[in-house]
Amino acid sequence: MRVATMPTRRLPAADPAAIADAAALLRAGALVAFPTETVYGLGADATDSAAVVRIYEAKQRPRFNPLIAHLPDVAAVEGQGVLDAPARRLAEAFWPGPLTLVVPRAPGGDVCDVARAGLDTVALRVPAHPVAHALLVAAGRPIVAPSANRSGRVSPTAADHVLEDLDGRIAAVLDGGETPVGVESTIVACLDGTPRLLRPGGIPRAALEAVLGARIDAAQAEGGVRAPGMLASHYAPRARVRLDVTEIRDGEAALLFGEGEPEGCARAVATLNLSARGDLAEAAARLFAALRRLDASGAATIAVAPIPAEGLGEAIRDRLARAAAER
Ligand code: TXA
Ligand code: MG
Repeated sequence: MRVATMPTRRLPAADPAAIADAAALLRAGALVAFPTETVYGLGADATDSAAVVRIYEAKQRPRFNPLIAHLPDVAAVEGQGVLDAPARRLAEAFWPGPLTLVVPRAPGGDVCDVARAGLDTVALRVPAHPVAHALLVAAGRPIVAPSANRSGRVSPTAADHVLEDLDGRIAAVLDGGETPVGVESTIVACLDGTPRLLRPGGIPRAALEAVLGARIDAAQAEGGVRAPGMLASHYAPRARVRLDVTEIRDGEAALLFGEGEPEGCARAVATLNLSARGDLAEAAARLFAALRRLDASGAATIAVAPIPAEGLGEAIRDRLARAAAER
């Protein structure tokens, strides 16, 4: 694999000159990680297939897994994808924000083939983070950005996490502090008049349903559209992950939620609480950093207390189930 080693620059996002530098790097075909409200993305010029190929190489990402194109506003989205009526309602309600829409590509769209993995659909998102917005405006073209981690690993919610995985493999990271939402965007396919949930994420399912005035079902795994990136094993720390535990075993690290404690908690080698007050938004924001920290404790297994499935809990449980999947 031809990944040039280079020092990765850490650019302070508060500095307007840093945004300009990052945009110039992107336009020159380099890879730049940047904060969004969900997680840090690894950006490349979506119209430059050589630049996009570098993402797959830096992340060691399977080539069949398409990328999300990020745009500064809905007007820019119109040039890339065709939004039907439900897609338009979702866009109005949730953009800018942690929502990705998979739609037919627009005739004049210039998100390249490699970025779409050859599909005639395209995944589009207008992020709400001010740094992402400023960067997209300065870049002046769609920017594809998967989460800025090595493929299959835990997504980054801080610039340090990006460097842990990708230092020396990318040109720069725009450091904008911790990302506020903490889990990736909700992905909805709007292709045949019936929106389908491809990935639970930062917008809870109930919020989508309130706007659509209808239930929204997950896409079928067999046939039909699906997110090729939804591999069973993903978001994986080095340690094994055990879910919905009521008792901590010897040598385990404990990941808690709310006030209750599993039995035997005192014997945990390390303990973190995602939200002692039982707030799912707070838990989502802390999830990936907590997995990284408990992994660093050296425990062979991370034991996770039960987390309710409502609201952002659906996305949290989805990511934990993937972290726990057979590898
Ligand atoms: O919050 C997020 O969405 C973050 C930030 C950086 O924006 N990005 C992110 O990208 O999570 P990534 O690459 O880790 O996940 C993109 C998902 C993959 O599961 C991929 O299969 C799916 O989107 N996807 C992209 N294009 C698609 C398409 N045309 N049809 C179906 N699924 C698609
Ligand atoms: Mg990812």
